[in-house]
Amino acid sequence: MRYNERVVIKIAPSILSANFAALGDDIARVEAGAPDLLHVDVMDGRFVPNLTIGPVVVEAIRKRTQLPLDVHLMIVEPGRYVTDFVSAGASVVTVHAEACPHLQRILGQVREAGAKAGVALNPSTPPDVLEYVLDDLDLVLVMSVNPGFGGQKLIPSAYAKVGRVREMIGDRRIEVSVDGGINLDHAAPLARQGATVLVAGSAIFGAPDPAAAVRELRRAADG
Ligand code: DX5
Ligand code: ZN
Repeated sequence: MRYNERVVIKIAPSILSANFAALGDDIARVEAGAPDLLHVDVMDGRFVPNLTIGPVVVEAIRKRTQLPLDVHLMIVEPGRYVTDFVSAGASVVTVHAEACPHLQRILGQVREAGAKAGVALNPSTPPDVLEYVLDDLDLVLVMSVNPGFGGQKLIPSAYAKVGRVREMIGDRRIEVSVDGGINLDHAAPLARQGATVLVAGSAIFGAPDPAAAVRELRRAADG
């Protein structure tokens, strides 16, 4: 079944693969390709075996771009930091289901703070965990790699999972985002399964012309 005949896929470059020493310049380079969101990966060295950035950097990015900031929290106890990230300028705050015993509560906390609420699922996490929070969320982030690092290879079970999540969502206005290992080859099959947002790090920032890479990914998704 095709879900996206009339849906224009949104592209979210992940700054994890950008040059952090010249982040403002790299953001300007992708902006020229008119992406829809800027994906910001927050890692704590506990939920995932890597460390990245916190609200201070999100605040600095907020001042450099008009793009909505799609903040992906790969951290334990995300509830402790939700308000800080929203105050720093996050438009979407996504928490991992695996890190949240009280998922419904934290989604409410994100919305109350004024951002859209997302839930991310690791590759081994079944979509069933979403069943009773579907009315509390705005975005589902299907991880197509085990989170922690850019530049990994997409795990093919993500295709079926995107399809299953799309079925569960029904008529609700919820974005289905996919994150990890996405390149031009994956864009159209993911869109056919019902993805509405594609996150890509190395395929965009690793390209000689990141703006062109954004446009090519969007075109590939429509194909
Ligand atoms: C992985 C991150 C991703 C990552 C994607 O833990 O959540 O957002 O940056 O990068 P690529 O596209 O290189 O897999
Ligand atoms: Zn991410």
